[in-house]
Amino acid sequence: MKTLDELLQTGKKHMMNTYAQLPIVLTGGSGSRVQDSSGKTYLDFVAGIAVNALGYGNETLKTTLHAVIDSGLTHCSNLYWNEHAITAAALLAEISGLDRVFFCNSGAEANEAAMKLARKYGHRNKGKDAGKIISMKHSFHGRTYAAITATGQPKYHKGLSPLMPDIEFAEFNNTASVEALIDDRTCAVILEPVQGEGGIHPADPQFLKDVRRLCDTHNALLIFDEVQCGMGRCGKPFAYQVFGVTPDAVSLAKGLGAGIPIGALAATEKAASAFSPGDHASTFGGNLISAAAAVVMLSSLQDGTLPENAAKRGTQLTKGLTALQQEFPDLITDIRGLGLMQGIELSTEAAPIISLCLDKGLLLVAAGTHIIRFVPPLTVTETEVDEMLSILKSAITEHRR
Ligand SMILES: Cc1ncc(COP(=O)(O)O)c(C=O)c1O
Repeated sequence: MKTLDELLQTGKKHMMNTYAQLPIVLTGGSGSRVQDSSGKTYLDFVAGIAVNALGYGNETLKTTLHAVIDSGLTHCSNLYWNEHAITAAALLAEISGLDRVFFCNSGAEANEAAMKLARKYGHRNKGKDAGKIISMKHSFHGRTYAAITATGQPKYHKGLSPLMPDIEFAEFNNTASVEALIDDRTCAVILEPVQGEGGIHPADPQFLKDVRRLCDTHNALLIFDEVQCGMGRCGKPFAYQVFGVTPDAVSLAKGLGAGIPIGALAATEKAASAFSPGDHASTFGGNLISAAAAVVMLSSLQDGTLPENAAKRGTQLTKGLTALQQEFPDLITDIRGLGLMQGIELSTEAAPIISLCLDKGLLLVAAGTHIIRFVPPLTVTETEVDEMLSILKSAITEHRR
C-alpha cells in the first residue's frame, strides 16, 4: 500500500491540473460517513457534490449492482434494448409526469441533449433561424461547449472563445428581463429551479410561472436543469414539483445513479418528437450498470421516503443554521435553499472554515468563494444533522479566535 505522500505525489504528477484537491485520499464509506487512507472518518455533507443520495454501502444498490455484474453483461450498446434502461425510463416518466427519456453519462451531456433537442424543435416548428437559447446569469450547466456557453458566469468562459453562438442571458428571478429577450427566434429557456454552483439561489415561484407562460406564448421549450436540485433533494422527487411548474424537458444526473455515473434528459412527447433516429446518441447512455443503479434510486423516490426525509431534515437544517446565524450575525449574512440543498453566505471566505471542519471530521463544500453549501446524502439522520451543526459551530468559534 502506497503512503499518502506517495499517492499525492503520483496524482499531482500524472493527473491533469484541473482540480484544487484537498490532501486526503478517500477509501470507503458507510451511511453518511466516508473514510480516508489513514482510517480517519468524516461526516459527509458533500456526498460527492449532491451525488451519493442513498449514502454509502446501501444494501439494495450493492445487491442490484452485483447481480448485473454476475449476469456477465454490463454493457451492450444502444443497438439493442436492455431491461434496466427500459425500467429506468418508465419509472422516470411516471415520477416526472414527462413522456420520454434519453440516457447519457453526466449533467453536461444531459444539457447538451436538451439544447440540441431545443434547436431541432425550433427549426422544425419555427424555422431555421429559431436557434436562440435564453439562459440565466449566475447559472451553471456543465463543462462541455454548449453547456459552458450557457453557464452565466464569465469566469468559466475565460480562454475558451469562440463560444457557441446564439445563447443569451437574462436576470434570474426577473420576468421583465426574460420578456426583453424572448422572441420568434427563441427555441428554449434553460434554468435551474435552484441555482447551485452560482451560490444556492432558489427561484421565485412566480418567476417560474411567468417563464412558463412566456415559453408557451412563443412556442419555446422550457428546460429545467435539475442536475443538482433534482432527485428528491428539495423535498419532492423533482424541484419543479415543489414550485408547481412543469417544464417541457428536465436534465438530470448527479443523484440519479446514487454514485454510479448516469445522466438523463426527460421530455414531453411534444418536445421529444423533435429527435429522430440518428439525431443524438451516447455509447454508454443507459448502460446496464448505470441504468440498474438509476432504477434503485428512482424506486426510492417513488415510494416517497427519500424526498420526505430531505424535506424533514431540510427544515431541521434551516432551523439549526438560523440559530447559528443568530449567534454569529456578522459572519452569516444569509441562509438560502430548499430541503437538503442549502447554503450559508458568509462575510468572509468560506475556505478556511471548510478546512477547519475537515480537520474536525466534517466534509463541506463551497458554492462560490463566500458560500458554504450543505448537500448531504438524502438518508442523513436527525442526529447527523445536529452533529454537523455542532462541528460547524466549533469551527466558526475557532476561526474567530
Ligand atoms: C445544475 C448543474 N448542471 C450541470 C452540471 C454539470 O454536471 P456534470 O459535472 O455531471 O457534467 C452541474 C454540476 O455541478 C450542475 O450543478
